[in-house]
Amino acid sequence: MTRPNATEILMTGPLMAYAADQLKARFTVHELWKAEDKAAFLREISDRVRGIAGGGHVRIDGALFDALPKVEMIANFGVGYDNVDAAEAGRRGLVVSNTPDVLTDEVADLAIGLLIATVRQLPQVDRYLREGKWLKAPYPLTTSLRKRKVGIVGLGRIGKAVAQRIEAFGLPIVYHGRSRQADVAYRYYPSLVEMAQDVDTLISVAPGGASTHHIINAEVLKALGPDGIVVNVGRGTVVDEQALIEALRSKTILSAGLDVFEDEPRVPAELIAIDHVVLLPHVGSASVHTREQMGQLLVDNLFSWFDGKGPLTPVAETPWTKA
Ligand code: NAP
Ligand code: 8YV
Repeated sequence: MTRPNATEILMTGPLMAYAADQLKARFTVHELWKAEDKAAFLREISDRVRGIAGGGHVRIDGALFDALPKVEMIANFGVGYDNVDAAEAGRRGLVVSNTPDVLTDEVADLAIGLLIATVRQLPQVDRYLREGKWLKAPYPLTTSLRKRKVGIVGLGRIGKAVAQRIEAFGLPIVYHGRSRQADVAYRYYPSLVEMAQDVDTLISVAPGGASTHHIINAEVLKALGPDGIVVNVGRGTVVDEQALIEALRSKTILSAGLDVFEDEPRVPAELIAIDHVVLLPHVGSASVHTREQMGQLLVDNLFSWFDGKGPLTPVAETPWTKA
């Protein structure tokens, strides 16, 4: 809808009504995903759009910035922003914001649920009962969380919330990242392969992008070993999916619980065919409560920017210091 004299923004994909309605009450909102001819649509609004609300699977990069030369600010729906070329935005003096913190506990809860579901085979056990098999025999005994040692890949906000929960289970925790964290007591491994050798449970909460691409590869999975379990709630691109499929088929590792995939929403048929894995359709933050908090933070970032007060939660690549 066009609002006379209103600031114009582009929404790249559908956002929940909770956030979209607030944007539409203040801005003229252009909905990219609804346009049949997207190039023509962008040409038509090229000189008017000053902000982008990022949602869906659309890549927000130099090509889009070229198409919309008046853009000042990109507010991403999600803490992960590998869908945005934030470095290129930074070079052009554009501000990028994301939605940190408000989803941390929800995603950490889901990671723990996924870990237990994978170790104790909860979806398979549920299917067993529904198929009437309990009437014939009890479900076979499963592996256990007991005696496991957990290696966290990406001990950031969510990684630490996962670690806090794992501590309550009484399991030892170590971590891998690009650097040791001074205020963290867990053992740090600069080498992911060496950490995989010393643990049997890997939980990845690392972001996507070039620096993490396929860091969980065939060598890491071999090091993890036959009791190994991989839980990934970070980004699908962190795990070499073909290497993972091969490691699961050959019993190089025991199992995997995955909330994220390399080419979402497409999940390889080979992975779906493996029964001893748990696969979720990227639902880490997907509760009404948390998605509303994320939507509100996206809205608040755009409002703050267009009120002349700067972004509330700019990403690291955005050169911005609070006044
Ligand atoms: P964060 O606080 O920035 O933490 C990211 C962690 O990853 C940091 O500890 C960082 O440590 C580490 N890291 C970054 N680059 C790395 C690399 N190349 N190799 C190894 N470790 C690396 O972010 P967060 O809020 O915890 O979110 C983490 C990620 O979770 C997001 O980026 C997103 O992709 C994902 N996520 C998924 C869902 C879901 O629905 N499944 C929901 C929310 C978020 P160093 O800087 O020391 O390397
Ligand atoms: C969202 C996420 O599901 O915040 C993130 O990085 O992966 C999730 O919370 C996603 O960003 C929405 O598309």
